[in-house]
Amino acid sequence: MKQIIEIGVQTRKVEPARCKTDLLVVGRFSDGEPDEVVRVLDRWLGGRIDRLAKLGDFKGKAKTHALVYGEGKIGAERVLLVGLGERKKATLDTLRRAAALAAGRAVDLKLPGVALALHHAFGADPEAAAQGRAMAEGAYLGSYRYDEFVTASENGRRGALDVQIVDPDAARIRSLAPGVAAGVIIGRAQAEARTLANRPANVIDPPALARTAREMLRGLPTVRCTVFDEKKLRTSRMGGILAVGSGSRSKPRLILLKYTPRRRPARGLPTVALVGKAVTFDSGGISIKPAQDMDQMKFDKTGGIAVLAAIKALAELELPIDVLGLIPAAENLPSGSSYRPGDIVTTYSGKTVEILNTDAEGRMILCDALAYAARQKREVIIDIATLTGACMVALGAYKAGLMSNDDELAAQLQTAADASGESVWRLPTGDEYAEEMKSKIADLKNCGSRWGGACTAASFLQQFVGTAKWAHLDIAGMDVLLKPTEYGCVGGTGFGVRLLTTYLMNLVDRKSSDV
Ligand code: BES
Ligand code: MN
Ligand code: ZN
Repeated sequence: MKQIIEIGVQTRKVEPARCKTDLLVVGRFSDGEPDEVVRVLDRWLGGRIDRLAKLGDFKGKAKTHALVYGEGKIGAERVLLVGLGERKKATLDTLRRAAALAAGRAVDLKLPGVALALHHAFGADPEAAAQGRAMAEGAYLGSYRYDEFVTASENGRRGALDVQIVDPDAARIRSLAPGVAAGVIIGRAQAEARTLANRPANVIDPPALARTAREMLRGLPTVRCTVFDEKKLRTSRMGGILAVGSGSRSKPRLILLKYTPRRRPARGLPTVALVGKAVTFDSGGISIKPAQDMDQMKFDKTGGIAVLAAIKALAELELPIDVLGLIPAAENLPSGSSYRPGDIVTTYSGKTVEILNTDAEGRMILCDALAYAARQKREVIIDIATLTGACMVALGAYKAGLMSNDDELAAQLQTAADASGESVWRLPTGDEYAEEMKSKIADLKNCGSRWGGACTAASFLQQFVGTAKWAHLDIAGMDVLLKPTEYGCVGGTGFGVRLLTTYLMNLVDRKSSDV
């Protein structure tokens, strides 16, 4: 898939003050002294940066920035000062967001290139590779724009941005570089995920998503892509996916992505399945949703797209771990052939489900894919889905819900969330919630009471994973940005790509280091 803005990220050994660039970017914390790079620049610029601080125009507060012109005194035409907030509150995401803000400013200023010297403010903590990765990811996120269907292109936006991470120290460049390389892969995968998510339902229906998956993974011999069409879904008795897809002329699919690394996985690494909900449009079906904001239901495929992009990233990273990606895809529409409230659906597991609300469709497609993963004896199963409005009510659009039957897995995902900046918060599942999902005329019903909707939905899913270690990520509300932020334009976020990739990278790192 073609990038909307071609981004290149490289490291370059150069003294920041001498670096020839349209925009040199440095960071400053709101407390403590500015770092050496900022001090040197300020000296060359005759105290301009210091004056900004003294006049109170720029003090390094989080989410602030200021522009200073080089006027021939330094290599750069402009210096962008980015506020990093308080030192003790800083995380890797502070650096990622700062790089994102800088890349976004470079796009808005229509500049061909930007040089990042943001990491100097952080010193040796966190380690250089992690800093390089955060800056590269940030560059992709912040420069992301979605205008592939805008035919009037009078905005004059450039088609490419050259990002350099600059440092005078050769040893530091060497330690930044592997992180930058990983960050490029992950950043690019997430940008692709955003574009797929942003494409509307008349452009991406389930068959088109399956074709796009194949196309995206072509050229990666370690990933095998298999697609179950409607016929194969029927012979496989995947009643949940078929029921949800029955109302649309676009037929449902199950997309299977099997990644087998060239290097043999370290002993003790689990086999993993990633399962992502891909409802290409969720009208609610016969239990139709209100008109207000229904257009946003094109983002109901975000979980599935996160799985697709994560599989691509880990194949490009050549991570030595076995991962199966499962993407059940369906369009939830009302019509004469739709499934109905009152229907009893026999799912792939053999369990029967009484449908009380056709808008609780996510769990109906996920339960088939989860049972399939369990039958494939996957030891760890992680699903990711824009599943419930209730999760948004509980956590807002700041954190995804995390439910799990295994504390270690939950802790690993929490760690990956903290490092990737894709936040999660653990919510409960268990018997009380599962009790609510029992039906009198079938094994289960697809909808519980008014209360605890995120937890009852998770407890429904939990019943399809057998003995696997399982975690569920409810990403409702995390799928879309309603206002532009430093992470780019409104629309799809590609949420989950960094979280899932980081989780898998950490698993591999931990295993290869404990011998
Ligand atoms: N895709 C929606 C959940 C959603 C809502 C995601 C808002 C993003 C923003 C899901 O399929 C749904 O409709 N869930 C219902 C479940 C209910 C009928 C039990 C909900 O949350 O209202
Ligand atoms: Mn729904
Ligand atoms: Zn949905």
